[in-house]
Amino acid sequence: MQKIHAAITAVNAYVPDYILTNKELESMVDTNDEWITTRTGIKERHILKGEGLGTSDMAVPAVEGLLKKRGISAEEIELIIFCTTTPDMPFPATANILADKIGAKNAWGFDLNAACSGFIYGLSTGAQFIETGKHKKVLVIGGDKMSSIIDYEDRQTCIIFGDGCGAVLLEPNSENLGVMDSILKSDGSGRVYLHQKAGGSAKPASHATVDAREHFAYQEGQAVFKFAVTNMADVAAEIMERNHLTADEVAWLVPHQANKRIIDATANRMGVGPEKVMVNIEKYGNTTNGTIPLCLAEWESQLKKGDTLILAAFGGGFTWGSVYLKWAY
Ligand code: UT7
Repeated sequence: MQKIHAAITAVNAYVPDYILTNKELESMVDTNDEWITTRTGIKERHILKGEGLGTSDMAVPAVEGLLKKRGISAEEIELIIFCTTTPDMPFPATANILADKIGAKNAWGFDLNAACSGFIYGLSTGAQFIETGKHKKVLVIGGDKMSSIIDYEDRQTCIIFGDGCGAVLLEPNSENLGVMDSILKSDGSGRVYLHQKAGGSAKPASHATVDAREHFAYQEGQAVFKFAVTNMADVAAEIMERNHLTADEVAWLVPHQANKRIIDATANRMGVGPEKVMVNIEKYGNTTNGTIPLCLAEWESQLKKGDTLILAAFGGGFTWGSVYLKWAY
């Protein structure tokens, strides 16, 4: 019997209207367009403005557009995996909030927090529910309102991040297309280099934590860079080796967009030329869980049935991983 794979059958994304340019950042912190461009590849990022709006408010248009493309109703969704590091609230899960907002009355769901590797973790998790036959329609969403946890006085961190959200639908496929393999890794000792100090159970919010600016993302950029550049490249190469894939056979590398230099190192390690690498970091910056689905949505029209895609990410935790995917439409 042909194995059932979990195939992406629709993709869509949303970014908010407001554009924060390098020029505007120059007026906020001691930085300049040339430094940001050469060190990261970022030119601008989108920011969600508006009182009371959270990550789910970017997911609503992303998912509604996806359902329209696929021609199905929200009631047909069985499971929502919402990959995010900036949930609307500590609880309930943003997956629950989204289900209510879009009318996914028959879905259960949960949030998945693996920082920048969240979408890779989520895709692999969602695929299991399809492969086992448990569900036929699984939504995997990757989105973050990073501006809600960014310190716009910290020039090393604030220049990188932006807001955005993307979503994919997973459905069963018996043509040998879809998620073929994944490698997921973590090393919690890396938490010292990238984390949010307060607001969790170990250090609940207080006047003191707010005064100490401990509710913002803290990153030791150079240390994270060193781990990211080797691990993301290694895991992408490892999944190719394990599946006997040559660089020629890879149609696209879909890398997490944290820094153009990390993306280039990953492509070099895989032996894949720049024409096969999805890069939109210049427009969106690092949207954390949003980067990979934002790429898939942007390149959707260029993807062909049967194309081999390698997705790769690295992020806080540390977490990292890679997914080998065959495009199904
Ligand atoms: O997505 C999740 C995982 N996160 C990542 O993968 C991010 C990984 N890290 C990075 O992308 C980079 O480390 C950064 C973009 C955060 C920083 O780039 P860098 O090349 O590692 O810079 P650096 O921290 O080594 O700083 C170099 C210099 C320093 O000045 P001195 O000490 O050489 O005089 C910094 O103070 O650049 C200075 N600098 C800046 N200058 C202008 C740091 N930030 C800025 C800035 N504008 N925004």
